[in-house]
Amino acid sequence: MCGIMGYIGSKEVEPILLDGLSKLEYRGYDSAGIAVVKEGKVKIEKKEGKLKILEERLKAKSLKGNVGIGHTRWATHGSPSDKNSHPHSDCSGKIAVVHNGIIENYLYLREWLQSEGHNFTSETDTEVLPHLVEHYYQGNLQEAVQKVLTKVEGSFAFAVCCEDEPDKLVVARQDSPLVLGLGDGENFVASDIPAILNYTRDTYILDDGQMAVVTADGIEVFDFKGNEVDKKIFRVKWDAAAAEKGGYDHFMIKEIHEQPKAIRETLTGRISENKSSVLFDENVALTKERVSRIDKIAIVACGTAYHAGLVGKYVMEKTLHIPVETDIASEFRYRDPLINKRTLMIVISQSGETADTLAALREAKRKGARVLAITNVVGSSVSREADDVIYTWAGPEIAVASTKAYITQLASLYLVAVYLAEKLGTMDAQVRKNFLQELEQLPEKAELVLQDEERIQKLAKEFVAWDDSFFIGRSLDYAVALEGSLKLKEISYIHAEAYAAGELKHGTLALIVPGIPVMALVTQEDIYEKTVSNIKEVKARDAFVTAIAFEGRKEIEKVVDQVIYLPRTTTLLAPILTVIPLQLLAYYGAVERGEDVDKPRNLAKSVTVE
Ligand code: M6R
Repeated sequence: MCGIMGYIGSKEVEPILLDGLSKLEYRGYDSAGIAVVKEGKVKIEKKEGKLKILEERLKAKSLKGNVGIGHTRWATHGSPSDKNSHPHSDCSGKIAVVHNGIIENYLYLREWLQSEGHNFTSETDTEVLPHLVEHYYQGNLQEAVQKVLTKVEGSFAFAVCCEDEPDKLVVARQDSPLVLGLGDGENFVASDIPAILNYTRDTYILDDGQMAVVTADGIEVFDFKGNEVDKKIFRVKWDAAAAEKGGYDHFMIKEIHEQPKAIRETLTGRISENKSSVLFDENVALTKERVSRIDKIAIVACGTAYHAGLVGKYVMEKTLHIPVETDIASEFRYRDPLINKRTLMIVISQSGETADTLAALREAKRKGARVLAITNVVGSSVSREADDVIYTWAGPEIAVASTKAYITQLASLYLVAVYLAEKLGTMDAQVRKNFLQELEQLPEKAELVLQDEERIQKLAKEFVAWDDSFFIGRSLDYAVALEGSLKLKEISYIHAEAYAAGELKHGTLALIVPGIPVMALVTQEDIYEKTVSNIKEVKARDAFVTAIAFEGRKEIEKVVDQVIYLPRTTTLLAPILTVIPLQLLAYYGAVERGEDVDKPRNLAKSVTVE
């Protein structure tokens, strides 16, 4: 939700800001802007629309200088427009601020500042920040920002530059990510690591309640009271190329193809040599004693991560014989959830920064639950606040539509299930061994599924001709149907309804008309016949049905219009394979419709507001 970039050093700042912002556009792309301090003056250029519109404008009107801040926006307060774009400045135009998050008490602050004579020019919550800095500024930017921090409530990461102190940037973080990059005679500020990887791998990951003064020669970190904080350098191991498109047309298709590798990475080092145990590193301290106290598991997440959690529910209830509830994070907190110190809460978040997920995590901790996080981002808020952490090791996921993060969340959940089952004694060694051996074969099987790409590309044409489509399945297939339909909606804007196949006749069947595309998932052996009966219900209404089934299920060809076959695996593991054709379908559907695949309208990669 908005990307921040900042630079201070001896190089020209404009290309560095634009390069960094291009890596952060996944966080929002309603508008973009930069502020540069040059010869004692703050100059701002900002424009509604994607970064390339700002870039075009800057070609004609370049901002020269060696210090600056930039922003790419996902609108929350105030529509996308030039005037609501960041950076925002104070009345004098000497101070510029870029901000990610929401200042919750901005209305009160705005009215108060207006009564003090400040003029506001935008509809944003952010604009209170430069005016507050102006109000408190008495020749020391750090002190002014420190005073501002006593006034603002909400979630924020922001960066400030000021023409009276052109040799520094002051930044602060509370509940929104902020990373500081350490260079040689230059330093960087960014919302996420990929933005600074072309320049440095040494970073400080700012914690909540911390601010920093960034100059060309160094970075000093303080708490909000002004006490200096000793930070440890976090060295980033993956390189910038890992976050680039690598010859693909879009990040999404690159990330779909990276999935076999990503699953391998998730599993590497986590399965014992004799294949019967799961091993986690020191980030997981779920001892046998702790596990034996668990009487309920609550899985909480948003969007695609929530769909992974639904798979987790089926798998864990089957393997652990413990009740498992999967909740949407934005709902969880407000229904006074029945959890306590005997609950294991599993939060799933690719970014580790999703505001609703983070709030749910905090609520669970407040109620005494132990929290295990499954996340992709090292040092993310979720990873730092959870008791136990499993990193998915999917590598940077840039496309807004989540693919490899989902698949590695599934792989992680399978590992957790076996890990807990061993401690609880609910899965004997041979069963664990068979399951883990099968799990290890999934990367190769995923590669085989990807070989069907061209067929699915053709199938996408059937879907794009319609404005509505249906995804049906039972049990684990239903959980994957939900994910498939979200993918299609999210990037191709085709309405896609996911339905539990047995539930169709209770309402949705009324929407089935001749020719309408239906994707039927039929991988769950124990209810295979039941799902086939439901497929016959839609076929009887002349829908165009594509089935996804395991190899060898030849008889399904007589029932449906076409079949996508998957290499066989155990039914519990099927979701890892089933989702791949659905991801490809969504991708090619969006390409066919000419949509902006990696940056779908109205969305952002990381949703750091409630
Ligand atoms: O970073 P998170 O995993 O917490 O993000 C959760 C959702 O916002 C995310 O999965 C979203 O639904 C994806 N864009 C779907 O593709």
